[in-house]
Amino acid sequence: MGQLTQEVVRSFSKIENTRQRLLLTRLIESLHNYVKDVELTQDEWALTIDFLTQTGQKCHAQRQEFILLSDVLGVSMLVDEINHHKHEQQTPSTVFGPFYLPDMPVRDYGSAIFSLLDEGQLPLLITGRIVDQDFNPIENAKIDIWQTAHNGMYSGQDPEQAIDHLRGVFYSKEQGEYAIQSILPVSYQIPSDGPVGTLLNFAERHFWRPAHIHFKIQAAGHHDLVTHLFIENDPYLSSDTVFGVKAPLIVNYQHCEYSPEIEEKFNISSAYYHIEYQFVLSKE
Ligand code: BEZ
Ligand code: FE
Repeated sequence: MGQLTQEVVRSFSKIENTRQRLLLTRLIESLHNYVKDVELTQDEWALTIDFLTQTGQKCHAQRQEFILLSDVLGVSMLVDEINHHKHEQQTPSTVFGPFYLPDMPVRDYGSAIFSLLDEGQLPLLITGRIVDQDFNPIENAKIDIWQTAHNGMYSGQDPEQAIDHLRGVFYSKEQGEYAIQSILPVSYQIPSDGPVGTLLNFAERHFWRPAHIHFKIQAAGHHDLVTHLFIENDPYLSSDTVFGVKAPLIVNYQHCEYSPEIEEKFNISSAYYHIEYQFVLSKE
């Protein structure tokens, strides 16, 4: 360690909490090593400060450019990788993303997270169970779901959509069953009008995420699960711009003909698409 680095590290030595001291010390060491390694110039440092300033300035209540930066740099998935390998059987987690909104309406088993379908559009029925790592059902698990509309935008991002459109909270039933009506998700581009967009353009990277549906599942006595379901054969599965795809999360959907039983159970009066998926949570 160089003399300056040592001196800076020492200047933080009064932080009592060992973990907090370690986090700061290692950050200083890594930053100093980086600056030395690349022999950072004054202009490059000024450019870095400017980039971070613009990133901060792009943030507001509905926009988190720092999360986006962490996502495209692969840091979000690295943090995920370190923290979410709780149990082999567990459904893998993936990136949270910046578009979650809390306090969405609680909806009944099998109900829809949209209010109207477009002409000729088929609903997507997602059914399955929430279980623990021993495959015991989990009753009353809270399932938060959110996804983009056809135009690739989330409510909150798109002023045309009601804030609770394609969002909702469901609770699993006694045997862990859940059922949700949605629509097929589409691939979409992450926001490109900020410094992260400038960075991706500069690096000639694309902005696409493969079609997916977000889930945040919480159950007493279990670790929270933040994940997606991705749709098979999407062209961006192998080049997700935020590196979030994990094979066990890729699902295929079935086209199903109209069925009176399904109409009676879920009020679906047409053909529909169907995904069946079991989410496995790990015990605390
Ligand atoms: C998302 O899937 O909502 C998302 C994740 C990372 C960056 C941007 C969007
Ligand atoms: Fe998303």
